[in-house]
Order: sequence, then C-alpha cells, then structure tokens
Amino acid sequence: MQSDKKKVYIKTFGCQMNEHDSERIAGLMAEAGYDLSERPDDAQVIILNSCSIREKAYDKLRSEIGRFGSLKKKNPGLVIGVGGCVAQQEGKRLLGGGRLIDFVFGPRAIHKIPEIMERVSVDGRGVVEIGTTDDKMVDANMKRDNGITAWVSIMEGCDNYCSYCVVPYTRGREVSRPSNNIISEIEGLASDGFKEVTLLGQNVSSYGKGLSESVDFPTLLSSIEPIKGIERIRFITSHPRDLSPELIDAMAKLSKVCEHIHLPLQSGSDKILETMNRGYTYEEYRKKVDLIRDRIPSISVSTDIIVGFPGEDRDDFHKTRDAVMGIGFDSIFLFRYSRRPNTAALSLDGHLPEDLKIERLEEILLMQKEITSRKNRSYIGRSAQVLFDGQNSKEEGGIAGRTRTNRVVYAKGDSSLIGHLKEVKIVSSSFASLRGKLLENSINA
Ligand code: SAH
Ligand code: SF4
Ligand code: F3S
Repeated sequence: MQSDKKKVYIKTFGCQMNEHDSERIAGLMAEAGYDLSERPDDAQVIILNSCSIREKAYDKLRSEIGRFGSLKKKNPGLVIGVGGCVAQQEGKRLLGGGRLIDFVFGPRAIHKIPEIMERVSVDGRGVVEIGTTDDKMVDANMKRDNGITAWVSIMEGCDNYCSYCVVPYTRGREVSRPSNNIISEIEGLASDGFKEVTLLGQNVSSYGKGLSESVDFPTLLSSIEPIKGIERIRFITSHPRDLSPELIDAMAKLSKVCEHIHLPLQSGSDKILETMNRGYTYEEYRKKVDLIRDRIPSISVSTDIIVGFPGEDRDDFHKTRDAVMGIGFDSIFLFRYSRRPNTAALSLDGHLPEDLKIERLEEILLMQKEITSRKNRSYIGRSAQVLFDGQNSKEEGGIAGRTRTNRVVYAKGDSSLIGHLKEVKIVSSSFASLRGKLLENSINA
C-alpha cells in the first residue's frame, strides 16, 4: 500500500559535518510529518544541503538547482530549500530573481526547520534563516540510517582563519558542546546498539574552549571510554598545532580509541604554511608525527594537502612532494587551491594557473598511489579486527567493514555478521581496500 505521507528528498554535499547535519534535518522533517524519499521526483520538498569549501562544490549546487528547477516547472507545488555553507554565505541572494528556491537556512539555523516549514506553508516562498554565529549548539533528534556507526558532533565552527578557508565564515565561531550532552547522546547510541562513534568538529583538539566546565579533548575521550557497548571511538579533524602530548597519551592509553589520526599538513613549505596561517612549521608537524608513531606504532596517519596555493614556487612544491614521500601517509586527500569569497588568500600575490595546479596535483597523486598501495600490501598475512557495517554491493554474499586503522575490508560472510567485530586474516590488497578471510573463533562483540 502506498503511503500518502508527505515526503522530503535531501541531497548532501561536503564534509561529514554536513552529512551529520542532514541527519538532523531528516529528524526534524520527520517531526514535521515528512518521510525521507530516495527519489526527488516523488517528494513534495527537496532540500539541498550545500558545501562551499571549493568552487567545484559550489558549481555542483548550481547545476543541481537547475536540475530540480525543471522538476518544479512540471510540478509548481514543489518546495525547494537550500541549507548548509553556501546558504550561510549567500543568504537571501540565493532566492535571486527566479522562483526556484523557496527557503534558505544556514547550519546554525537547522533547529528552526519546523518553524521554517510552517512559514513556507503560510507565506509561500522567500523564507531565509541563516541563524546567528553565536547560537549555542542545539541538540536535536537525528535520523541515522545505520545502526552501527554514528557521528556525534562535539563542536561547531572554527576560529582558525586559515587564509584559504571559507569555513570560519560559513560555520561561524567555534562553540563546544557541553560534555554531559555528548556523553548522554553516546550512552543513548550504545543502548540503541551502536558500536562505533566518530566525534566531529573542525578542530576537535581544541574542544572545551569557552565552556564553563573545565574539560579538554583528552578528558572527553577518557569519559567516553567506559561507555558499555561502544567498542570504537574515532574523531575528525585534529589541527596539528593543537595536537598535544596529552592527546597522544590518551590515544595510546584508551583501548577504544582507534589507531588512526587525520592530521592535515596542507603544505611542506614553511613559507606557504605561514601565508596559509596554519600556525606550525613542517619540522614541528614532522616531530608530532614521529611522536605519535613512537607511542602508537600501528597508527595510520592520513592528511589533506593543497597544491597551487598563491606564491607556491617550484621549490615550495618540491618541499610538499618531499614531505609526502618522507612521512609516508597512509592516505591523502589532495586538493588544488580554489579561491573562496571573503578569505585572506584572495588578495595574495602569485595566483597560479589551473594547468600548473593540475600538473602538481597529478604528480603527488601518482606518488601517493604507490605509497598507499605499499602500505596496504603490508597488511597481507596479518590479522586485523574489522567492524562489519554493510553488504558489499559488488559481490554476492560479500560484506564490508573497516579496520581500527580505517582501512576498508571486504570479505565473504553472512549478513548476520554485520554490526559485529570480527578477526580476519588479510589475504590481498589494492590501492583502495583490503580483502580478508574470517578467522574461526574470532571475537564477537
Ligand atoms: N577543519 C579541517 C578541514 C576542513 S576542510 C581542518 O582544518 O583540517 C577540508 C580540507 O579542504 C582542508 O584541510 C583543506 O585541505 C581543503 N581546503 C579548504 N579550503 C580550500 C580551498 N580554498 N582550496 C582548496 N582546498 C581547500
Ligand atoms: Fe578551515 Fe583552517 Fe578551520 Fe580547518 S582549521 S576549518 S582549514 S580555517
Ligand atoms: Fe563544505 Fe561547509 Fe563542510 S564548506 S566542507 S560543508 S564545513
């Protein structure tokens, strides 16, 4: 029987923060009487949760607006909303002269969705709520689609003002969430059967700043560790400047904190790191990686690199290349510099042509492919603990999960294993994943 309940289709761009925000949006829309739809063409409301980190993300939003705009021509009753970082940045400009977009809301105004929907139904189009950057973090019911791993927001915003980055302008000032709210959310997740949490923030290592309680990130990790049922704790992203010996200590001591850290380097050149306003030198970064590898030998280290930042000459680029080679990251997210509105880097001298940026990006990409493949090969013959969290859509009877070091592992196995921790023996590897064989008598949590 077909349900006649109203439906909302949500499309998300950007980072985990935005993905997680979409879970909050879905939760609030459910309270407002909307079911989630898999398809835009049977929804009464379409929400695009946008990202502004690079120009390409912004362009994608524009083409999606065009695409859904033609749906609206066929169905004038269709309501289209834009949320996320472009919404915050552009505000009512997004409504434009056309009649495609009906409402706009920023990341700090998500809790106002029920009210926004009410106003849209009464006033028609044109509702804009970008929220204030001083809004405290508001707890909301999420609609999470997987009962095994969950994102948990511990802070919003960013005060770092890296000179290339739009996030401080779209997400606002850094605000930490009180620790008791975080703990009770995770206790709730544990009682719902979740096994893994990923703590989210633009700069998790400065967690606690500005709260009235005395708490920092290592203390927060220690208070999550005892929560029964949660088997793994991850976090993203740590800023290299704020990665303290206390945090490394906590990671080494706490058994549930996984052996993986995402530590964005951005560039290997001190000159570029300084104009990026990153607050560390390459040597300082390198020493922190050495320290963490020394304390936690199995740790996997991933990073973000930007090539083609304004003023990056051949020598600076070679320093980045040498850094990537020298450190040997387990994986890299590689970007070419993209001009963003309001950011300080816009007015720097020495913007580079796109073809040179592409050339540099490809050079590092090729090198990293080799490094990642070699690192993955080193798993062959070893056993690893895997939390299976889904089917392998490309293989009949195949399941997929991750190691504690964040490697994707595929194995043949019954779907009843999904949601459980299992020991596997790694039998082969590729650039993107590992292949494992389930071991008999392995742990089962
Ligand atoms: N808060 C996180 C990451 C935020 S954005 C951190 O600081 O680590 C994720 C990545 O996008 C950044 O680490 C950076 O490498 C990249 N990025 C951000 N702005 C960019 C821009 N204008 N051009 C290209 N890459 C950018
Ligand atoms: Fe952007 Fe820098 Fe903040 Fe990361 S730390 S979100 S790169 S300003
Ligand atoms: Fe994009 Fe905003 Fe995240 S700009 S990367 S969605 S914080």
